[in-house]
Parts: sequence; C-alpha cells; structure tokens
Amino acid sequence: MTNKIAATGVTAGSDKPFPASAVDNKGSRKISVSRLAWIKIAVFFAACIPLALLVVSVLTGSIGPNPVEGIEQATGEWALRFLLLSLCATPLTLHLRWAWAARVRRMIGLFAFFYASLHVLTYLWLDHFWVWLDIVLEIVEKPFITAGFLAFVVLVPLAVTSNRFAVRRLGKRWKALHKWVYFAAVFAVLHFVWLAKGDRLEPVVYLAILLILLILRLPAVLRSNEG
Ligand code: HEM
Repeated sequence: MTNKIAATGVTAGSDKPFPASAVDNKGSRKISVSRLAWIKIAVFFAACIPLALLVVSVLTGSIGPNPVEGIEQATGEWALRFLLLSLCATPLTLHLRWAWAARVRRMIGLFAFFYASLHVLTYLWLDHFWVWLDIVLEIVEKPFITAGFLAFVVLVPLAVTSNRFAVRRLGKRWKALHKWVYFAAVFAVLHFVWLAKGDRLEPVVYLAILLILLILRLPAVLRSNEG
C-alpha cells in the first residue's frame, strides 16, 4: 500500500486536487500523507502564534497606551497577511510545484477569516460598544471603513462554504464564488491604504504584493475566458 498522495495542482480559486495522472504529467512533486499532516500541524501552530503574542502583549500591558487600537491593528494586519498568503498558494503550486501549498490554502484562508472576525469584533465591541447607529454612519461616511466592511462581507460566504460539503453541493458555482477572494483582498488592501496616515510604505507594500498576485493569475483567467 502506498502512503504517497499525488501532488495537487489547483484550478483558479479551487482547492480540489487534479487527478493523480494529470499531476504527474505536470511534474509536480509528490508528498507523503504523513508529511502533509506534519506540514498542516506546523502551519496551524504557526498561524496561532500572532494570537498568542497578542494575548501576551495585552496581559503584560506591552501592547501600548491604547490597547483597543493595538488589538485592532494587530488583528487587521494578520487578517490581511493570511489573506494574501492564501492567494500565494496557487502560484506556488503552479509555478514552483509546491504541492503542499494548495493543501494548506483552506486552513490559511480560514485563519484570515478568524483574524478578520477578531478585528471586526474588536471594532464593534471594544471600539463602538455595539452602538449600531455610530457603526452604520461610519460605514457609510468613511471610505476606509466601507472598504473594510466590503472585504469582510465578501469573506463571510467564502468561509461558510469552505467545507467539503459546500464544495460538493455548489459544484461549478463553488469555484465562481471563491474567485471573490480576490475582491476581498482588493477591498482589504484599499482599506489599509485609505486609513494610513503619514507613512504609507507598509500598505503600499501590501498593494504591490496583491498586484503581483493578480498579474500571476492573469494567464489562467484569460485561458478560462477563451475556453
Ligand atoms: C467591518 C469590517 C471592518 C472594519 C469596521 C474595520 C475597521 C478598522 C479600523 C477602525 C481600523 C483602524 C485601527 C487603528 O489604526 O486605529 C482598521 C485597520 C486595519 N484593518 Fe480593518 N476593518 C474591517 C475589516 C477588515 C478586514 C476584512 C481586513 C483584512 C482582511 C482588515 C484589515 C485592516 C488592516 C490591515 C488595518 C491596519 C492596521 C494597522 O494600522 O497596522 N480590516 N480596520
């Protein structure tokens, strides 16, 4: 019995493996089941580190003079980082043949949603004390909040349908739905670029990374439009 599984390629926005034969033709490296399990465990614990560090910094008071702002900034940044990391999975699998990247994409995407949810929860609860009128007014009046809100609204259905059951249930529509992750990333980056005052280097770096990722996706998008 072999404990090797085929390396996976990914179709745009999907995390479904190619059939083993197609993968072999494409020359992707194979990865063992146990190795993949270890990689997933490592990625899981690595993705929990920012949360652990945040909890420690809150408990020790090292988060700074304004803890709410500190929590909002840390969770927002990690949400964006994981979101962009999840978008790296497809190019890494297709261009570098890193089979494992596609297999951890769903987990990374869910961590993006987890940190985004903490971020939004901090905003609603600790920053605005659930005062809905203030919240709605900010969403309408402040473009950077509108962009963050849109990013979150797009992420919710993606997270809800990230399980195997939804993949089976939605069929082809699942792939189309999950392409919206690029819109979520665009809104999230705009959110950051818009809110940054003074030093805009960091948001511009995220913008550059997003543009590179979008450019890398272009050939596949053009190919699927031709077909
Ligand atoms: C309803 C949705 C959202 C609201 C209301 C919201 C609100 C905010 C607010 C008020 C800040 C400013 C924090 C401060 O500097 O004081 C902020 C920062 C930020 N948010 Fe959001 N956000 C939302 C969704 C998102 C999402 C979905 C992402 C990423 C996926 C995100 C990423 C960020 C980032 C990267 C920052 C900048 C952190 C920094 O200054 O270092 N936000 N957000």
